[in-house]
Amino acid sequence: MRLVLLGPPGIGKGTQARRLQQEYGWTAIATGDLLREAMANNTPLGEQARAYVQRGELVPDELVNRMVFERLQSLESFILDGYPRNLSQAQVLDAFLRERHQPLHAVLAFELDDEQIVQRLSGRRVCPQCGAIYHIVANPSRAGNRCERCGTTLITREDDHPDTIRRRLTVYREQTEPLITYYEQRSLLQRVDASGDPETVYQRVLHALSIQPDSPPR
Ligand code: AP5
Repeated sequence: MRLVLLGPPGIGKGTQARRLQQEYGWTAIATGDLLREAMANNTPLGEQARAYVQRGELVPDELVNRMVFERLQSLESFILDGYPRNLSQAQVLDAFLRERHQPLHAVLAFELDDEQIVQRLSGRRVCPQCGAIYHIVANPSRAGNRCERCGTTLITREDDHPDTIRRRLTVYREQTEPLITYYEQRSLLQRVDASGDPETVYQRVLHALSIQPDSPPR
């Protein structure tokens, strides 16, 4: 399966990508996670990306494209979470996949009102070690303020502060939302209602992908 997850910040793309990876073994590539890892390790890419991420702006295309294609080289199945994020990235991805005869199977566009998105983002806690995603109300860690998988103290993401959240939502509307039409025109788009708990959304995701629950990986 080669899948793109589209949707505003905080709608739950990462939560669903991790679930699909866990259940079906498709590799989830989250550009935001890769950039945060590069920033934490102070790599040249991380240093170049830091100011953009902190402002809630998109990191320049050439940096992100290179980072994604390095990972896609060796994969048959993947879930792209947070990429592509503008028309130029989508076109470059199309060309890359065409050359490899690996067309996308589907693009899921998650939909939710802004008020619930802000609630999800303001209650998010993440594990800086293993990347697990929690929410203080909807999905709290059973280990309190520690990660229930690896025991690391949970943190609030640097860009989950009100001003940056607003900026990220604006950037999404201006630069990423046009991709909905782009993929609709290519008959790849499936809209997914992202309201309800993560399990409910996951069942909608399976339905959108025409997957019977508990069916084997493909
Ligand atoms: P990125 O990390 O991709 O952030 P984002 O797209 O803004 O998405 P988020 O990770 O914030 O949210 P999500 O939809 O994954 O939601 P989650 O599952 O965590 O990007 C960060 C930055 O990196 C960008 O601003 C940019 O600077 C840069 N960048 C990244 N990609 C780039 C690219 N391609 N080009 C250029 N720059 C790029 O869920 C959110 C919360 O809600 C969690 O607390 C979760 O537990 C909770 N939750 C999830 N589902 C539910 C549910 N159904 N009900 C209740 N709560 C839920």
